[in-house]
Amino acid sequence: MIRTHYNGDLRIDHVGQTVHLVGWVSKKRNLGSLLFIDLRDRSGIVQIFCDETITIPDIRSEFLIEVKGVIRKKDVANPSLLTGAIEVVAQEIHVINRSETPALIIDSQTDALEETRLNYRYLDLRRPSMQSNLMIRSQVIAQVMKFFDAHGFIYVETPILTLSTPGGARDYLVPSRVQPGHFYALPQSPQIYKQLLMISGLDRYFQIARCFRDEDLRADRQPDFTQIDVEASFLNQDELLRIIERFIAEVFSSTRQINITLPLKTLTYEMAMERYGTDKPDTRFGLELIPIEFLIPSFQQAGLDVNFTYGIVVPNASQGFSRKITDELSLITKKYQIKNPIVFKVEQQKLTGSFTKFLTEEHQLKLIQSLALKENDVLIVSGAHSKKLLLQGLGAIRLWLGHFFKLIDPNRFDVLWIKEFPLFEKNAEGKLVSSHHPFTRPREEDVALLDTEPEKVIALAHDLVINGYEAGGGSMRIYDKVMQEKIFTLLGLSDAEIKRKFGWFIDAFNYGTPPHGGIALGLDRLIMLLTGNTNIRDVIAFPKNLAGVGPLEKTPSRVDDQQLDELSIQIKEKIS
Ligand code: AMO
Repeated sequence: MIRTHYNGDLRIDHVGQTVHLVGWVSKKRNLGSLLFIDLRDRSGIVQIFCDETITIPDIRSEFLIEVKGVIRKKDVANPSLLTGAIEVVAQEIHVINRSETPALIIDSQTDALEETRLNYRYLDLRRPSMQSNLMIRSQVIAQVMKFFDAHGFIYVETPILTLSTPGGARDYLVPSRVQPGHFYALPQSPQIYKQLLMISGLDRYFQIARCFRDEDLRADRQPDFTQIDVEASFLNQDELLRIIERFIAEVFSSTRQINITLPLKTLTYEMAMERYGTDKPDTRFGLELIPIEFLIPSFQQAGLDVNFTYGIVVPNASQGFSRKITDELSLITKKYQIKNPIVFKVEQQKLTGSFTKFLTEEHQLKLIQSLALKENDVLIVSGAHSKKLLLQGLGAIRLWLGHFFKLIDPNRFDVLWIKEFPLFEKNAEGKLVSSHHPFTRPREEDVALLDTEPEKVIALAHDLVINGYEAGGGSMRIYDKVMQEKIFTLLGLSDAEIKRKFGWFIDAFNYGTPPHGGIALGLDRLIMLLTGNTNIRDVIAFPKNLAGVGPLEKTPSRVDDQQLDELSIQIKEKIS
């Protein structure tokens, strides 16, 4: 039988037509001798009507069936279905394939455990919400191709079997059989290749790039994920960002009919940290952090030795501000090793709370006036030695409060650039590490600081932040051999190490390297945001779980001894 229509496409205009349909049985209802079937395919559901005039085979949920019938208008339309104005009066029904009772209910909403969903991913992907996620993903990929092609970018595929490059995570390694004892690394990103393509004169490159990172997994991370990877020569940072944001605006407008105002807002890293305590702020709600220096002596008086004090005002929250909330906030302050939250309430134009005993009348008034506190407002204050930890801790508190008090409009999208990142950070051992990666160009006016105060050097880097998620990151690149070597040296690499690890790359700088820069957008994160999900796994067909395991196909897996022998690999301890 030849299918004539997708089920979800049928409308009142089709009344009277004979159609051949296929689909899975979503629901079945018997009414005496009459049978109603909801028939589902990827386009949606249509109702099939069967009466005693035809032979009905044994049909159950998720059986795959084919139906020949005539479309007729329903007496009472079903407003919850796009096809709800019509039904198909079956003339013939055949079972193409039977189904066992599925382990999960095939419906947009599910309360099935994620483990079950991943174990039966092929059934989970039958759910309309999951199909919609994958369709939106496919549309965005088509749009990537169209947009970047139209802007003169050339699609180039870069190797998957490559070598270890710095990317901030551990590499996934692949042993070579023909070069025993040697390993490829899977790319954490195509960073070096896209820069080489600029040296090759490709001028503008893009790729839907698969990337692999062995790092701690979170709800917005996958070990193998996808980037929209972009690089361009002869553009300055602003010109590059204007192109990228136009792409983002087009995606939001086509998939969600949302108008994003361009040019996007920009925050400097310092502003983001000061006001939101994070370099990926969710700016959909207020509760910004406020420095309150004059409280430091009061902290000291209370035996709390701190160098910085910051606060957050939660408007009109004093009624519901229970002990339970304070306990939750204490868990956060503990995690960031900052002082326990001090909670003040404004009641009858006065501050209340046990800490008020460390404040003079004058200071209490100053707090109320300088922060413009109103009746029933809550002020939360904390302090610490480290400004960074204090801001980060209060940033986490701000986010928690934003969710708890439901201050975030889930239908709003705040898209912004964060710029002016420091070029370096110090790691736990006090060593300089790149904030982005070692190929990031320092700001011209800061180059002299590299020799004196490298931590103060600002990078020509940019992150794209959407609703508190880092949706993309990139930078303008170093295109001068001496500068690139200098950065490696500052990062603690010896000349021999630089030569061994990056000599081949730096050599390319000898051949007329153009000024260039780029960005990579996290495709999975972008789709997660566009589809209103908070779990990246819901927009990836076959994701790994939080333990990095593919439960359905059971990856990673043991391999045969023979395969290990061929690869000259011996497992140290056999794990059963
Ligand atoms: P970066 O490391 O910032 O930059 O990565 C770019 C974007 O990729 C997404 N992303 C991830 N998504 C899902 N799971 C992960 N584990 C994961 N890691 C990163 C994020 C992030 O913003 N080569 C540079 C880009 C450049 O400089 O041009 C790079 O990879 O959305």
